[in-house]
Amino acid sequence: MTKTLVISNRKGGSGKTSTSVNLAAEMAGSGQRVLLIDLDTQGHCAVGLGVKVGRDAPTVHSFLAGRNRLRDALVPRVWPNLHLVPADCLADHGLGADKELLLREALASEQLNDDYDTIILDTPPSLDSLLFNALCAADRVLVPFVPHFLSGEGVRQLARVLFRVSSRGLNEGLRILGFLPVMVDLRIGLHRDIKSGLAQQFGAARLLPGIRTDIRVAEAFAAGCPVRIHAPNSRAAADFSQVAQEIDRLWV
Ligand SMILES: Nc1ncnc2c1ncn2[C@@H]1O[C@H](COP(=O)(O)OP(=O)(O)OP(=O)(O)O)[C@@H](O)[C@H]1O
Ligand SMILES: [Mg+2]
Repeated sequence: MTKTLVISNRKGGSGKTSTSVNLAAEMAGSGQRVLLIDLDTQGHCAVGLGVKVGRDAPTVHSFLAGRNRLRDALVPRVWPNLHLVPADCLADHGLGADKELLLREALASEQLNDDYDTIILDTPPSLDSLLFNALCAADRVLVPFVPHFLSGEGVRQLARVLFRVSSRGLNEGLRILGFLPVMVDLRIGLHRDIKSGLAQQFGAARLLPGIRTDIRVAEAFAAGCPVRIHAPNSRAAADFSQVAQEIDRLWV
């Protein structure tokens, strides 16, 4: 059965897109068929994967606006086993208001669920129908966070949104898979404290091994390719590989 993982944190710049792109590439590299869908109108997933999106090309946002099928926006084999549905950088974040189930329904009715082992949804930090569509379409949430003093607030805000999704009966199966510390430097006391605070609050089993600070992540993005290709011997590549395996283990 397809696993649909949404990468979300209400805090901006918390590593959502870097995690989405590199985990998708890691899973595809290990032989899974992976679809990455970029709900964020910043459109950074395409940039990070070296994909040019034409001005009038169909996107997930033109799908939400009712202009095309989701499948029409698919860019196949961006990298081996990895397909992308890109974002429209000019789309309005109010798209699909009160239609939070559009994405979930399309994944099922267009049989995209049958074509992939894993679907990864990158999300904007904003609280809007784009985020709700992603949360309603997913089975599990992965929350990347930078361990600094505002990270707890981003996580709390996301927890309230998850509660709203489940209390309205929009996606009762949605669960938090785990929290992923990114840009971690355990020499910094604050990073250690925040990691242990989250482990206490949500359970140590929910805290994934982190992604260490590594300039290769930013470099790979600029080069338009995943870090496992750009810098296969880097510590970030090793960390993403370990996290991908851990996700398989945690997914029950
Ligand atoms: N492990 C890492 N080491 C060094 N830099 C990193 C690492 N992870 C992410 N970054 C950098 O941090 C910045 C923010 O990351 P990213 O764009 O993935 O966050 P985001 O949560 O998607 O942001 P937004 O909320 O704007 O969508 C980027 O410049 C990225 O290159
Ligand atoms: Mg992003």
